[in-house]
Amino acid sequence: MTDLSVQLGPLQLRNPFLSASGTFGHGLEMKHFVSPDALGGWVSKTVTIEPRAGNPAPRICETEAGFLNSIGLENRGVQAYLDNIVPALRGSEAVIITNVGGASPDDFVTAVERLEEAEEVDAYELNLSCPNVQGGKLPYGTDPAVAEDVTRRVKDVTKKPVFSKLSPNVSRIGDMAKAVEAGGADGVTAVNTLLGMAVDWRTGAPGLATVQGGYSGRGVKPVALRCAWECARSVDIPVIGCGGISTLEDALEFLVVGCSAVQIGTASFANPGLLAELVLELPAKLQEAGVDSVEALIGSIRTPEGV
Ligand code: SIN
Repeated sequence: MTDLSVQLGPLQLRNPFLSASGTFGHGLEMKHFVSPDALGGWVSKTVTIEPRAGNPAPRICETEAGFLNSIGLENRGVQAYLDNIVPALRGSEAVIITNVGGASPDDFVTAVERLEEAEEVDAYELNLSCPNVQGGKLPYGTDPAVAEDVTRRVKDVTKKPVFSKLSPNVSRIGDMAKAVEAGGADGVTAVNTLLGMAVDWRTGAPGLATVQGGYSGRGVKPVALRCAWECARSVDIPVIGCGGISTLEDALEFLVVGCSAVQIGTASFANPGLLAELVLELPAKLQEAGVDSVEALIGSIRTPEGV
């Protein structure tokens, strides 16, 4: 029997597959495509203290390999999440991770304090990396000192595990991972979207109303894989891989470079049932490779001496 379970810091997941924040509603909206109990865990769309209308349209733009988004953290705010979403999470066998955002460290702390009343929430993912809310500037979470401070301050108000979601738009992501580890993070999610843009050369119209936005999908996979590898070799806490994962092989690559779990994001737009399909395909693929557990694959990359 193949063991699909993985340990994610203090959490045990029944398999290594999670939804990526912002690509799957808050999770249960997608239950017609993926059974709520099929996954290792569900990661919500970012929740902020107050409701946010998000950025002006157009805020999605398809590109050659993936798409750009500039949603701007549209959501109904923490109270609506507690009232309308949390009750539906009750009894879930999958781990529930609520992604939290904010415009300042205090916002993160206040949002998590409010969410503490929801025992259905198993863990938090801190969105330190949204590229769409600061007028095209890099997310403030790209500063290691800020990322460490936010993580530490959130850890001070919760006993639940905290995963800090990092931006690839930095020169040394390993240093970012070390910073949030120093702040007490239980794990790192690597990575959010790459800053990108599109333009119609005939009309001069940018693809997004904010011009710049977050690029995701197949095209980002090699960058995301490198970021995940760099994080995994920099810290002792677990890494969740994210970025361009579209097939089971992609997911296994992230495990091999050291990730303990993976998130599927943009690929779910083309195939909302993909996460469930990957879970079903996993045992046969591991057996074919002569591996009897997912854990056996994690970190099995053969990095050449001196690299
Ligand atoms: C958004 O809402 O703008 C996307 C979320 C993110 O990239 O973190």
